[in-house]
Amino acid sequence: MAEIAEADIYSIIGADGFQRLVVAFYRQVPVDDLLGPMYPADDLEGAEYRLRGFLIGRFGGPQTYIEERGHPALRMRHAPYELNIAARNRWVEIMDRALDEVAFAPEVDQLLRPFFAQTATFLINRWE
Ligand code: HEM
Repeated sequence: MAEIAEADIYSIIGADGFQRLVVAFYRQVPVDDLLGPMYPADDLEGAEYRLRGFLIGRFGGPQTYIEERGHPALRMRHAPYELNIAARNRWVEIMDRALDEVAFAPEVDQLLRPFFAQTATFLINRWE
């Protein structure tokens, strides 16, 4: 299998690939008993837009997210949410299902899956 770098992902799946991924992710969020209540019910489109923009910038695409919102500072931005291990695991489960659904090429999938799992662990802010 071809070795690719994280920064190559945007040129492979494009904005359209990230769009398909966040749509598959956010379709599951509002009906989720744990995560649904955390997200802004009246601004899921905005949440989708922010996650997509962040991912595009993170994986080699245009830096629109940073231009609009500044440094991602993800731990700070997640501080308002009670992000315990159960929430982390649920988020990763939903993202894994979204990745299954969009079925990116294996070399892309193999970089994105661990990135999400590791970032989600890094964002845990309640250990009790
Ligand atoms: C671990 C479980 C997680 C939970 C429960 C969670 C929850 C949330 C919630 C409720 C928001 C606010 C939605 C909005 O209005 O934008 C948010 C924003 C965001 N999340 Fe997460 N998140 C998690 C993990 C992650 C991970 C792993 C990433 C990145 C790979 C991520 C990236 C983002 C980004 C980029 C935003 C928008 C920040 C902004 O610009 O305001 N989140 N998250």
